[in-house]
Amino acid sequence: MELAGIKLKNPVMVASGTFGWGREYSDYLDLNKLGAIVTKSITLKPREGNPPPRIVETPSGMLNSIGLQNEGIEHFLKEDLPFLAKFDTPTIVNIAGESVEEYAELAKRLSKETTVKGIEVNISCPNVKKGGMAFGCDPKLTKEVIAAVRKATTQPVIAKLTPNVTDITVTAKAAAEAGADVLSLINTIVGMSIDIETGKSRLGSLTGGLSGPAIRPIAVRMVYEVTHAVKIPVIGIGGIMSGSDAVEFFLAGAKAIQVGTANFVDTEAAIKIIKEIDDYVHRYPRALNFS
Ligand code: DHB
Repeated sequence: MELAGIKLKNPVMVASGTFGWGREYSDYLDLNKLGAIVTKSITLKPREGNPPPRIVETPSGMLNSIGLQNEGIEHFLKEDLPFLAKFDTPTIVNIAGESVEEYAELAKRLSKETTVKGIEVNISCPNVKKGGMAFGCDPKLTKEVIAAVRKATTQPVIAKLTPNVTDITVTAKAAAEAGADVLSLINTIVGMSIDIETGKSRLGSLTGGLSGPAIRPIAVRMVYEVTHAVKIPVIGIGGIMSGSDAVEFFLAGAKAIQVGTANFVDTEAAIKIIKEIDDYVHRYPRALNFS
């Protein structure tokens, strides 16, 4: 199948931030079997990330506040991209910036790399003061960032949307009008968990992004709304743990899906989900359309 020119063996990708840059997982599953690998966000300069604790389990999910820790684009191009180039699976690079110019610069630096098959623009990180969700909550800024990235690269541009808005179709339309080829949704929902013994937040940065099965019905609803509001393809994300969860997103209108939190529970989750989708397609040959 094809998604905005990106050739995929199957519609199952691993979601940004849950799979590092592929290296650690490569000991546990065959990366060649994945539809695509979406890398953890990279920024222009290295980032140390947020103070610990950074992760806490919650009912049917987890909160995280990593703060976009990464080694920066130079390190990524030197150390991580050559590793990913060894696999016959498209690499989609997720980028995050603190300004429109930073996003454009990242896209420009990546556009020369033949291993990079698409750029996912993180305008939805809930855990940083500058950039991230501040862009993705505002349709005007969404448009500016996506238009700047669009201008800086010929690679397919995927806008990753935040659910932390009143009406996600507004930012979806803004991203589509600015030239995004694909939308991916949803990123995490801002949440908080308090330890009643200490009276303090369980996260060093107080709030974090909620992911996992707890958010799935919200994600399915938003994918449904967005696929009925824009014409460009949508990648569904949000608490997909099994093939049947993935099928819900396809029936809501998604053309592909990303597996995130499930990778932490079972390193082979994505591989199992590919097989379970295949089983469903054999049971209901006309239910889904993967063209
Ligand atoms: C982080 C970034 C995200 O986009 C997200 O959804 C959750 C956490 C982070 O790096 O903190």
